[in-house]
Amino acid sequence: MNIQTVTTTAYNDQKPGTSGLRKRVPVFQQPHYLENFVQCILEQAGDIQGKTIVAGGDGRYHNRQAIQTIVKMAAAHGVGRLLVGRDGLLSTPAASCVIRKYGAAGGFVLSASHNPGGPDGDFGIKYNVSNGGPAPESFTNAVFAASKAIASYRIADLPDIDLSREGDHDFGGFRVTVIDPVADYAELMGKLFDFDRIRAAFASGALTVRFDAMHAITGPYALQIIEKTLGATAGSVINAVPLEDFGGGHPDPNLTHAPELAALMYSDAAPVLGAASDGDGDRNMIVGKNCFVTPSDSLAILAANAHLIPGYAKGVAGIARSMPTSQAADRVAKALGIPCFETPTGWKFFGNLLDAGRITLCGEESFGTGSNHVREKDGLWAVLFWLDLLAARKQPVADIVKEHWQRYGRDFYSRHDYEEIDSAIANQLMDDLRAKLPGLVGQSMAGSKVAQADDFAYTDPVDGSTSAGQGIRIIFENGSRVVFRLSGTGTAGATLRIYLERHEPDAARHGEDTQKALADLIQLAEALSEVKQRSGREAPCVIT
Ligand code: G6P
Ligand code: ZN
Repeated sequence: MNIQTVTTTAYNDQKPGTSGLRKRVPVFQQPHYLENFVQCILEQAGDIQGKTIVAGGDGRYHNRQAIQTIVKMAAAHGVGRLLVGRDGLLSTPAASCVIRKYGAAGGFVLSASHNPGGPDGDFGIKYNVSNGGPAPESFTNAVFAASKAIASYRIADLPDIDLSREGDHDFGGFRVTVIDPVADYAELMGKLFDFDRIRAAFASGALTVRFDAMHAITGPYALQIIEKTLGATAGSVINAVPLEDFGGGHPDPNLTHAPELAALMYSDAAPVLGAASDGDGDRNMIVGKNCFVTPSDSLAILAANAHLIPGYAKGVAGIARSMPTSQAADRVAKALGIPCFETPTGWKFFGNLLDAGRITLCGEESFGTGSNHVREKDGLWAVLFWLDLLAARKQPVADIVKEHWQRYGRDFYSRHDYEEIDSAIANQLMDDLRAKLPGLVGQSMAGSKVAQADDFAYTDPVDGSTSAGQGIRIIFENGSRVVFRLSGTGTAGATLRIYLERHEPDAARHGEDTQKALADLIQLAEALSEVKQRSGREAPCVIT
């Protein structure tokens, strides 16, 4: 194998964000741009000589070319075996599963999650380490530092691999194995859930589902598992063919971006369960007939019902949620007598707790739910969990949710987003809020007294590392909360997120409209932050 050393010049913008390096496709198409970044990752990846590495992505535009480059560069760096999903495909949770199952040293995950794709859309690349989870910040910081100093990279002279042909492609001491992207993941799901029970429920007609894959990566997974293995009627999975531009859509699972599904679920023809996942398959949306389930409630309901599911029947060690996620899961943890951890926003903060066995389930308000089965959030897993739960309880989604609220009370919850506001204005707003915090404690407002007002800081209970400045919290004596946070994933300006939450124990009031139920807190949040005046916006851009 002939290995070339190619001279290059550094780019200064290769700083990985929350989930790897994400840029517009034309940025990645600049000469040596991808090669530089891959070189820096392979240099930081530790001892990879003769080891196995995984590569796959969500199939968006530029995925195929990038995989061919990674193959040649992995060969040049002495990797022994590269496992690649057929056609270069692997959902993010499936990549995590494959890394863990085959004891790989790590893996390249090519995706920009729920961002639109296509020649002018977004592309992204991140590296996951041997536990199957995203590389820690120490790793990504080292990659960024290296990317600013790079002068050359190594690449092997190899022909392009036929990614459509499963099996081994040998090049001397280097082997590329093209694997079925679905098989290992599907096998893992079969171990966690009662597939016979779900199959019987589909066969009897008692259980019906509509899963919207949004022309993204979960299409082949959902077709194989939900339709072929579990026997849901043909057509249960829609938009199932992954397209390089997601059919021009925005592959983010919510009622706005999945309008076909939303219309169905609020009609007489609604199936028992409606669900969707995002570009790379790690997010999920759950909706019953006339019943949208918030991600916060979904986590709590899964935890409360985990004993019904084979993979979790032995018990849940603990639960974790990100700080802005509602406290619904805390109430379940308390009833179960298990700990509930509150972490900063970002899936990576669950990694240590999962590795140490301190938690079994975790979730975030941003449509992410998962468990200790992999080290990424997992969209289809959440859908299969709900299907198994529905097959076991034989009730409509709305009844399960209602009964949950009757037992634990309802946590009315909403997030108001002010997108793309000027960064300087957003930072000033946060600074001014921070300055007000000490004076708020003890004051009565929005029908209760402020018990605590702070900027959330986290100490990881496993490794003792600390993360400060993770969001401003105003917590009331009655448990209500208002949280202000600047998004860590935006690409233009700053996005202010206001998270609002109020617990309602009285079942007679559980049917109220969420925005009405939260009106006092919404008004207070706007008054305290002066967000409308400062941003010049009359209303939030998005309310979820
Ligand atoms: C990504 C991460 C999630 C996180 C979300 C927060 O999707 O994978 O773990 O919750 O970003 O996004 P934000 O824009 O609120 O920082
Ligand atoms: Zn995603």
